[in-house]
Amino acid sequence: MIKDLSAFYSKNALNMKRSEIRELLKFTRQPGIISFAGGLPAPDTFPVKEIEEISCRLLREKGATALQYGTTEGEAPLREELAKWMSQEKSGIKPENIFITSGSQQGLDIVSKVFLDPGDTVIVELPSYVGGLQAFTAYRAKMVGVPQDDEGMRMDKLEKVLGKMAQKKKKPKFIYVVPDFQNPSGITMSLERRKKLLELAYRYEVPIVEDSPYRDLRFTGDPVPPIYSLDTQNQVIVLGTFSKIFCPGLRLAWITAPAEWMDRMIVAKQSMDLCSPSFNQLITAEYMKQGLLQPQIERIKLIYGQKRQVMLKALKKHMPKGVKWTKPEGGLFLWIRLPKNMSANELFPKAIEEKVAYVVGTAFHCDGKGQNAMRMNFSYPTEAQIEEGILRLATMIRKNM
Ligand SMILES: Cc1ncc(COP(=O)(O)O)c(C=O)c1O
Repeated sequence: MIKDLSAFYSKNALNMKRSEIRELLKFTRQPGIISFAGGLPAPDTFPVKEIEEISCRLLREKGATALQYGTTEGEAPLREELAKWMSQEKSGIKPENIFITSGSQQGLDIVSKVFLDPGDTVIVELPSYVGGLQAFTAYRAKMVGVPQDDEGMRMDKLEKVLGKMAQKKKKPKFIYVVPDFQNPSGITMSLERRKKLLELAYRYEVPIVEDSPYRDLRFTGDPVPPIYSLDTQNQVIVLGTFSKIFCPGLRLAWITAPAEWMDRMIVAKQSMDLCSPSFNQLITAEYMKQGLLQPQIERIKLIYGQKRQVMLKALKKHMPKGVKWTKPEGGLFLWIRLPKNMSANELFPKAIEEKVAYVVGTAFHCDGKGQNAMRMNFSYPTEAQIEEGILRLATMIRKNM
């Protein structure tokens, strides 16, 4: 009998880290807890009735195709609908420029698999999406963090990092950004920064990975063009997903990338799952074809926009002086900063005692910092829970100041 089962793990497996968020979520399932910790869409936004109707008809009329294996690239009707959808942002996108993945999380894994060798550098934001950090860590990449301010990733700092690496004849494999209503900070990268990011990426010849699940969920302010729509040198890989604008349970997302890279990524996906679920793809294609996606997005924006308002109002009313927060123009999250000497990690058990939960800022920092920060989700809790939860959180923070 094998005594030490873990002795058989690969170096990559040994390097994998359990997501801190998933661990924290266990606490948040205790009865009575108001949780701002998850990142779940509000279940009452799911268009159950429409999906039921489309699914029944699909099974009746095209059951055999819908239940069969599909191509790795994805079902043609969905890629066609997506090409039309994306062409609203950048003209000339064709179905063959798009391939379907099982969630953007798989997209991040595919990008990592294709680009990263152990020890390679990826440039990420401080803070950054925890699932991205998890994927890059699993392939043993080294992450270099570049801080954000109100306008997104700081380009002066990025320029320094790239310059220093170039002096040592090194180059990162890619720069990973979540430019719209970022998870976790809620910050949107300004147009000026997007242009500067492209300029630096061209000068230092580094690919950009633009991961943007929240772009369509803008409640207020002026839209900023996506980075890929400004790209003239074919250097941007774009990840889009249906999780936050339709239903995460269908596990459908997509990647658009330069042809050479895309080809390699499709081969990488083949060994993961052969193809994403054909049935779900055909449901989603039909939903888009019937023109239902845009009204669905409008409905979601109305609900989340209102919840964001409730959270901002409650924060203003209850939070003690010295506590600051972002005011996102869209998305699902905002970011609270406590005074520098306070630790959101140390406060976490006290928050649970008070029956309120958040995610600690350190989970999103590749450099271990972010002690005084917390990520707050406003899409999942009800408006009443948001008011009550912020009051509980603010009272607990004030007591511990
Ligand atoms: C920035 C970012 N990228 C990727 C994902 C993964 O999304 P999906 O459900 O498409 O796998 C998320 C999910 O929250 C996210 O916030």
